[in-house]
Amino acid sequence: MADGNRFAFTAEIEAETLPIWDKVKRHITPMEWQAHAPMIAEINRLKRAKNAVILAHNYMTTDIFHGVGDFVGDSLALAREAARCDAKIIVQAGVHFMAETSKVLCPEKTVLIPDPLAGCSLASSITGADVRLIKQRFPGLPVVTYVNTTADVKAETDICCTSANAVQVVEEIARQWGVSRVILIPDEFLARNVARQTSIGIIAWQGRCEVHERFTAQDIRDIRDAYPGAEVLAHPECPTEVLEASDFAGSTAAMNDYVLTRKPKQVVLITECSMADNVAADAVDTEFVRPCNLCPHMKRISLENIYQALVHDQFEVTVEPAIAERARLAVQRMIDLPPPLVAARYDLVRARHHVDVELI
Ligand code: 13P
Ligand code: SF4
Repeated sequence: MADGNRFAFTAEIEAETLPIWDKVKRHITPMEWQAHAPMIAEINRLKRAKNAVILAHNYMTTDIFHGVGDFVGDSLALAREAARCDAKIIVQAGVHFMAETSKVLCPEKTVLIPDPLAGCSLASSITGADVRLIKQRFPGLPVVTYVNTTADVKAETDICCTSANAVQVVEEIARQWGVSRVILIPDEFLARNVARQTSIGIIAWQGRCEVHERFTAQDIRDIRDAYPGAEVLAHPECPTEVLEASDFAGSTAAMNDYVLTRKPKQVVLITECSMADNVAADAVDTEFVRPCNLCPHMKRISLENIYQALVHDQFEVTVEPAIAERARLAVQRMIDLPPPLVAARYDLVRARHHVDVELI
């Protein structure tokens, strides 16, 4: 950390950051807060001075999410926000593909990622060259790409989706193209989970999220034995048997909405660890059971490197203009769809389709 005076926990800093402390005090110890609060105050000052905003994903730690995030949410919400915000600088508190998506949508803005090594196992599972081969193998079928991909991959595809709208996107593109099968890449589990909710045939790639693939149906049974009253919410990047054993599945935003609107007494979020802390700060009447897996990529982002990003304008994310232009079409087509009626509701009643998934 930089010089001691600037980052001292003074009475002024304490007063300035009090509203944030009130929100996070059940999740951050007073000792940690004394270290975080001066940095949070300094980051918020720098943002104002530089006309910068911080887009913070739901998997950021609570100090970042509630302390410095100007816009927080799931991948879909952050992409929409990047497209409409009028800041000069976007600091992406998330992983590299999210920063690329922001750059693709806002080529005129400076997009910074505090740690350029914040990757994603799904994004690194496939390349643009792979997608070109897939298209040769399945001519005439639209390619739907999960936003968890590089700009290079998005540039080869027809439309993007997130876990909040994947079923809607698949059905809409199949309708527009007049086809009964769609290529949905690169997350095998998202593809399988979408296939359970639609009659459209799905061709899938074998990419996996290294965080969600580790949950098992046995984990859910163990949780139910230990906490019989708990409602279990799972992310659609989990294996299908995990979703089948859960009460609800949806994107991180859909889980957040579920907890805040239905106010379950006890809940389990089957997803990345920070998610529960961030929702819990707003859901004071809900008890959270906390089995979780850490995303090592998301956890590369810290208050310290966000501060460094703002001070040194680092690390700038660029996308080659020709790639960006084609990738933008795929992302914009998704953004232009009407907002999902019920964001990523994995409806267990509707999920009765014969699962027609062809793995490439
Ligand atoms: P969503 O926030 O879109 O649900 O995505 C989860 C995720 O794994 C992002 O990396
Ligand atoms: Fe990628 Fe999974 Fe980490 Fe999200 S949680 S960034 S999908 S590895």
